Amino acid sequence: MIDLHSHILPGLDDGAVDLADALEIARAAAADGITAIAATPHVREDYPTTADAMESGVRYLRAALEREGIRIELLPGGEVSLEQLDRLSHDELRRFGLAGNSNFLLIETPYWDFPPPLGEVVGRVRSFGMNPVIAHPERNPAIQADLGKVAALVDAGALIQVTAASLDGRLGSRTRASARKLVDAGLVHLVGSDAHTAGIREAGLSGACKVIGNEPLARWLTESVPAAIVRNEPLPPRPTPTRRPGLLARLLGG
Ligand SMILES: [Fe+2]
Repeated sequence: MIDLHSHILPGLDDGAVDLADALEIARAAAADGITAIAATPHVREDYPTTADAMESGVRYLRAALEREGIRIELLPGGEVSLEQLDRLSHDELRRFGLAGNSNFLLIETPYWDFPPPLGEVVGRVRSFGMNPVIAHPERNPAIQADLGKVAALVDAGALIQVTAASLDGRLGSRTRASARKLVDAGLVHLVGSDAHTAGIREAGLSGACKVIGNEPLARWLTESVPAAIVRNEPLPPRPTPTRRPGLLARLLGG
């Protein structure tokens, strides 16, 4: 499996505090069957990670993984908040490309409200030649109240990533129900751990795969789609027609 959301780089944000923390996440991920993990530190007002800091953090941690014999590939990235889209140059945003692919940008969903910029973000990001990957919309209460907002983002061209801990219930029943409905409606493209430390949304995707209960779909969400992003290949077709017309119509209020 490939995990395209983690706060594994030490000392940059509210994720791994130090190298020992980072190695613990990497060991747990590898033990869970993760072969590659993207480092996606926060890029936002309270953690204004620069592309230089992210890239040198990746080099530093790669060397430590090698030294420790931990067999997991570390990929670059960033989790960019909406306000940074106006503050960073297009060149810097491209350096935060997800898994090192400058065609994709991981965007953090705000935790409250559904600000108009999220609705406009797809067009804005696409206008400078990148595709937005919207991280964990299922954790936002305004979106939980109207999952049709996610369908609109997908229709505009966004990819959707849900958090593994949302699916397996670690983030509460409302978040779990929203994640499940989005998966069942065929609106999710990726599952990521969003691992911060061993104790906060710990590493691993296998628990979420079990909950999905549809092996080809789970593999598509955790292997095929992230691998296509890593290799910059077209996304493979979704394995089963999970986009149930009735459910989607209900999400859209139709
Ligand atoms: Fe995150």
